[in-house]
Amino acid sequence: MTEKYVLAIDQGTTSTRCIVFDRRGQLVSLAQQEHKQYFPRPGWVEHDAMEIWRNVERLAPRVLRRAGIGLDQLAALGIANQRETTVIWDRRTGVPAGRAIIWQDTRTDALVHSLAASSAASEISEISGLPLATYFSGPRLRWMLDHTPGLRERAERGEVLCGTMETWLIWNLTGRAQHVTDVTNASRTMLLDVRGLDWSPRALGFFGIPRAMLPTVRPSIGGFGIASEAFPGVRIGAALGDQQAALFGQTCFTPGEAKCTYGTGSFLLLNTGAELVHPENGLLSTVAYQIAGAPAVYALEGSIAITGSLVQWFRDQLELISSAPEIETLARTVADNGGCYIVPAFSGLYAPYWRSEARGVIVGLTSYITKGHLARAVLEATAWQTREVVDAMNANSGLTLTTLKVDGGMTADNLLMQMIADVLDVPVVRPLAVETVSLGAAYAAGLAVGYWPDLDGLRRNWHIAGQWMPAMDPALRDGEYANWRRAVERTFDWIQ
Ligand code: G3P
Repeated sequence: MTEKYVLAIDQGTTSTRCIVFDRRGQLVSLAQQEHKQYFPRPGWVEHDAMEIWRNVERLAPRVLRRAGIGLDQLAALGIANQRETTVIWDRRTGVPAGRAIIWQDTRTDALVHSLAASSAASEISEISGLPLATYFSGPRLRWMLDHTPGLRERAERGEVLCGTMETWLIWNLTGRAQHVTDVTNASRTMLLDVRGLDWSPRALGFFGIPRAMLPTVRPSIGGFGIASEAFPGVRIGAALGDQQAALFGQTCFTPGEAKCTYGTGSFLLLNTGAELVHPENGLLSTVAYQIAGAPAVYALEGSIAITGSLVQWFRDQLELISSAPEIETLARTVADNGGCYIVPAFSGLYAPYWRSEARGVIVGLTSYITKGHLARAVLEATAWQTREVVDAMNANSGLTLTTLKVDGGMTADNLLMQMIADVLDVPVVRPLAVETVSLGAAYAAGLAVGYWPDLDGLRRNWHIAGQWMPAMDPALRDGEYANWRRAVERTFDWIQ
């Protein structure tokens, strides 16, 4: 009998990856393609959705060739995607009505502020489980409808469709047959009734979004049709937002289990089970996953907009390093930050502040500061932002995080992992499989088709690869945290 595998498509903020996994959850082959980032104005960030779809088409033969397998050996495919990034396209031609506006984009600031000041604000948050912020898809859709001539009329006539990236990919993969989303992605729009798990007519009314353009909401693990393009004949078994996929890939299936994924941004998710915990302290409530026929599982989330993106900025805009891993080497040239702090409020600040108008600051500069100190401050910014969301999570959930499971590209940085253990004062644990986003999408798709029988089988695949123990003097930690918070205050002072 020929061996079967599962494929994951991880459509992320900076690149798209296709990964083949085997039954033990081990990576068999990987193909990856970056896409262009468009920054047309300060605070604006866009992607070309067509470029992203073409990348999937290009990656398909590559990943199969590298695995040495045929399409008939794929039991299923699963999609994990950058969340909240939104695109509108023509139902007939498939051509996007403009570039996709990505989750980091803050152009909807004025709209969000006017809604926040209105009587609708608390109702929107109550329905969706989310704070009013530029981060989510709903305000973005409204912006596109308001700023593209004729688009609203076309949307009302059902001539254009919208979606986040999994919707766009599934629509293309199925030869335009399926216009669907999953509950986790839908829960990031501000348009979903997060308890009823369908579009909320009230929320659609507040944002002025025509129902006709929205995809059908489905459980994350079940069925999204059969691909006819890129991977023809392969069943699309699952779709999840990438952070929820990482929670799944880390096998955090039990309430109280949490993980933090360090990518362009960083996202700490705590499984809260079938109960939606009312979010407080700047956290948000989100759907973690839903298996078809079962109730949804919820999570509390602390979202940090800029972590890996700060390293990218340090590399590409300041050109102080030539590759991302060099940040660790540079940071190790000094013993401390020399009194310098960087708060990367490039897209405002997310959790726990939700201040979209905040702008980044570097404070504590003296002629003593070298690029090594700056590199250290870049890494420390990720550690302190993690501390802020962990504090909020502990306060909101009533639980105390005793270890932090981590994954994502930045976890290859051992200095950063030690810093996180130090500032949290808990051990940080990294699994053997660091491709947890893709692994989670593969697990979910494999579960949907019976490739893996149950959640316990997946748990057995989780193995620890690295652990960092806290070793920071408590007085030093408290002093540094106070300094960090003073630096954060400066990002608000800059607001006009
Ligand atoms: O909410 C945004 C998040 O899904 C982006 O993840 O890994 O593509 O930066 P990533």
